[in-house]
Amino acid sequence: MQKPERTDFDREAAGQTPGPAAPAPAAAIAHSPPSSGFSRPLGFNTILKSSSTGILTAAAFGCGSAPARPVTGRAEETTPGVPVEGYVRLAFNESPFGPPPGVQAAVEEMLGRPYALEYPDPGFLPGINRYPDFLNVELTDLAARRHGFSTRAVIVCCGISELIYMCSQAFLGTGKHLLMPEAGFQLPAHYAGRKGNPVRTAPLDRSHGIDLDALLDRTDGDTGLIYLANPNSPTGALLPREQLKSFAQAAERKSPETVVLIDEAYMDYVLESPLPEALSLVRNHRVVVGRTLSKAFGLAGLRAGYAVGNEELVLELNGFLSGYLGGDPGWRMFEGNVNRLGAAAMVAALSDEGLAYLETVRTRNAAQRNRLAEGLRGLGYDSLPSHASFVLARTDSDGENLRGFLCSRKILVQDGGSFHPRYRDWVRISVGSREDLDTLFEALQVYDPSVSYPAGFPVFYHGI
Ligand SMILES: Cc1ncc(COP(=O)(O)O)c(C=O)c1O
Repeated sequence: MQKPERTDFDREAAGQTPGPAAPAPAAAIAHSPPSSGFSRPLGFNTILKSSSTGILTAAAFGCGSAPARPVTGRAEETTPGVPVEGYVRLAFNESPFGPPPGVQAAVEEMLGRPYALEYPDPGFLPGINRYPDFLNVELTDLAARRHGFSTRAVIVCCGISELIYMCSQAFLGTGKHLLMPEAGFQLPAHYAGRKGNPVRTAPLDRSHGIDLDALLDRTDGDTGLIYLANPNSPTGALLPREQLKSFAQAAERKSPETVVLIDEAYMDYVLESPLPEALSLVRNHRVVVGRTLSKAFGLAGLRAGYAVGNEELVLELNGFLSGYLGGDPGWRMFEGNVNRLGAAAMVAALSDEGLAYLETVRTRNAAQRNRLAEGLRGLGYDSLPSHASFVLARTDSDGENLRGFLCSRKILVQDGGSFHPRYRDWVRISVGSREDLDTLFEALQVYDPSVSYPAGFPVFYHGI
């Protein structure tokens, strides 16, 4: 592994005299994490201000059938977001059930903490004027305990999106490609594209599930990262754990350095027992599993999640956390990723009470998902069996037209074509509240596919 040039800050931290640092090649910065160890220095409370370099990306895509258009972050290129107020949001797989009990009180308690004049102050509990615990000690412990892992196998992040970003930075070196199913969550492809790494895709199988053999066929020594989601989005298909295990083993035989990122954003909705989680694979394989609090925990707005991964890989990922400042063995210095409110919420969500609530959500989601599928069938739209919090429904005609129509009725859904042209005639619809689904059914009753509708809201997020 190539080691990046150390900065003045790194040298200072290591007790050396600052000096001019030779600029590291962009590619080296992009894909070579510092060889830092990760430990928790006691009493470390210095926040060092530093301008950090990095690639600014945003996952906003143009409207209509144009391919995903990356946004560089320049003001004239940034785009208005998706409407928040007054729309029935069935496009983003957000939870209609809300967060676990205890989350609101935890967030309010954090917000209400007084600003201390003196710091440190005995008995003082830092509030939102203070940086978060940038080592995420409590959160890491909680996540590790939830799954029975050591904290060295866990890294806390601002949702799986940040994890995907970190993985693309850490494991997509120069000349390496990303490999993923052709119809899947588009963020990994976006990040790879921004870095100039090729994206290789494998078709889904005939029942719209991820075809692991097809992924394996396309794996070679240049495959830096394989991304797949289980359950998959947008199809909702689920892979059995045994198949994933065989896949991880076979991929490793073909290309020992390749990292497999398994996105389990929707695993908390799966009804099967035992759950086909890939967690057990991380001990012996180059596998990282992403979990989020955005979906079943109902905390999408607070941006919190974590990964459980092979310890060696987790160590590498530490160097790519947002706000990362530098580090050498024994140090990890950054200003924090998950903010204090998100952290407070995550502590409550991962408590015994929070995890028990998850089981209620699992049941309620399944009931509403059935209602959604049945309601759609009653209106003439078949949908695929789903293990997640959405269904992919076949329309009479063009999914984008239906999306445009629904948008004109202030209902947001995703069209299948934004994931892959093969799904142009489909729409992905999130499980919503009873009222949301009633509004949807009412609108669909008057949809006339022979009428052309504009693409809808001027900017729409595609493929997420
Ligand atoms: C498959 C998949 N992974 C990840 C995400 C984003 O997760 P997070 O909110 O944790 O960044 C989504 C969001 O819709 C998704 O569909």
